[in-house]
Amino acid sequence: MHLAILSGSVFGTADEVADEAAERCRAAGLQVTRIKPATVDALLEANADAILVCCSTTGMGELPATIQDFYYDMQSRFPLLTGKPFGVIALGDAGYGDTFCLGGEQIRELLLEVQASEALPMLRLDASETVTPEEDAKPWLDDFIARLRNGQA
Ligand SMILES: Cc1cc2nc3c(=O)[nH]c(=O)nc-3n(C[C@H](O)[C@H](O)[C@H](O)COP(=O)(O)O)c2cc1C
Repeated sequence: MHLAILSGSVFGTADEVADEAAERCRAAGLQVTRIKPATVDALLEANADAILVCCSTTGMGELPATIQDFYYDMQSRFPLLTGKPFGVIALGDAGYGDTFCLGGEQIRELLLEVQASEALPMLRLDASETVTPEEDAKPWLDDFIARLRNGQA
C-alpha cells in the first residue's frame, strides 16, 4: 500500500501533522511519498494507492497559499481518481465559527469531485482546544491505516 501525503499550511502546523503522519504510516508498514510542496504533477507521478491531505484554514475559511495552486490546478486539469481512497485532516479554530475547518472541507470536496473515495470521515483538529494536533491525530490515523489495509475504503 503506497500512500501520498500532502499538506497546506500557513504557520507550519499542518505540515508538522503531515510529517508525523508520514512517520506513523511508514512505521505501520506503508510506503509513503511525502509531497511538499503540493503539486498535481507530483501527486500523479507518485501514482499512490491512497491519498492523505493535512490542511489548515486561513483568512475567512480560505485555503493556505501553499495549497492554493494545487487546488486550482486540480480543478482545471480534473484528473479522475476514481475509487482512490483518501482522508483529510483539517486544522482550524472553532472560534472562527462558520468557517471552521473550511480549508480542509474544500480539499475534501475537491477529492470527491474527482471521484476519489473518502476512507474515513474528515478529522477536524480545533486549535482552541488542543496544542498537540500531531498527538490528537494518532487514533484517527490508526483507523485510516486499518481502513486502507482492510480495503474497506
Ligand atoms: C489569520 C488567521 C485566519 C484563520 N482563519 C480560520 C478560519 O477561517 N477557520 C478556521 O477554522 N481556522 C482559522 N484559523 C486557525 C488556523 O487554521 C489554525 O490555527 C491552524 O492550526 C493553523 O495551522 P497552520 O499552522 O498549518 O497554518 C485562522 C488563523 C489565522 C492566524
